[in-house]
Amino acid sequence: MTDHILIERRGAVQIIRMNRPDKKNALTRAMYAKMSAALAEGDADPAVRVHVFLGVPGAFSSGNDLADFLTVATGGEGGSEVWDFLMALAKTEKPMISGVDGIAVGIGTTLNLHCDLTFATPRTLFRTPFVDLGLVPEAGSSLLAPQILGRQGAFALLGLGEGFSAERAKAAGLIYDVVAEDALEGAVLSAAAEIAAKPPQALKIARDLMRGSREELVARIEIESEHFRERLTSDEARAALTAFVTRKK
Ligand code: COA
Repeated sequence: MTDHILIERRGAVQIIRMNRPDKKNALTRAMYAKMSAALAEGDADPAVRVHVFLGVPGAFSSGNDLADFLTVATGGEGGSEVWDFLMALAKTEKPMISGVDGIAVGIGTTLNLHCDLTFATPRTLFRTPFVDLGLVPEAGSSLLAPQILGRQGAFALLGLGEGFSAERAKAAGLIYDVVAEDALEGAVLSAAAEIAAKPPQALKIARDLMRGSREELVARIEIESEHFRERLTSDEARAALTAFVTRKK
């Protein structure tokens, strides 16, 4: 298994830490698989009450590994790991909290739409350049972002690919709070401990009520995934992905 994802238990809190700093936490298929397994195992284990997502200093995630996407765009096999992870996000039963510092691109942004609380540092920039890459929104973001940001805010994020600073994200309701870099993990773990101390059954029902229809979310992820897979092999995507992978610094 990859050590690009580190799993740690602290009491009732399961920490899923993305740890591929040399690639700004670009996510590979193995990383998705390990995160999906951790969510499933944590959900099944009564000792776990909360899942926490963290990255490395300066990079929560730069999104899907674009070299992996290019493999698919040029006729290679893509596997199901990405789509399995997106479904795992939608189906996870226990609260999820994220602590975001720095780069948060693609799934590095849309993952947080599934979190119950997100903390971010002032240097964080949320960005989803799906359309610029010839792709479409994923992870249910075409459903969740309009609910959170309104239609125009969602279009700014998902259509225009505008960056959202932490302050803008907080004002827009995309995240819970902005905290200094050196206070991020403390804030996340303290919120996680607070949640872990709540009566779990009442919390589960309250969370389910607030999240709305899971069936609708799952159905949307399936529709997005169909479009996304089709787009991945389009000329638009092939050109954009090739440009990134072959770019000169
Ligand atoms: N997939 C694959 N590799 C990636 C990556 C990604 N999504 N994001 C960054 N990397 C790699 C870079 O290629 C570089 O690798 P190298 O050192 O072997 O050349 C390394 O990570 C560092 O990235 P770099 O671009 O030098 O860092 P930066 O701080 O200047 O910029 C980003 C960081 C994230 C803004 C920039 O790398 C970027 O735009 N990445 C693509 C993001 C993206 O479009 N994600 C997909 C969304 S669907």
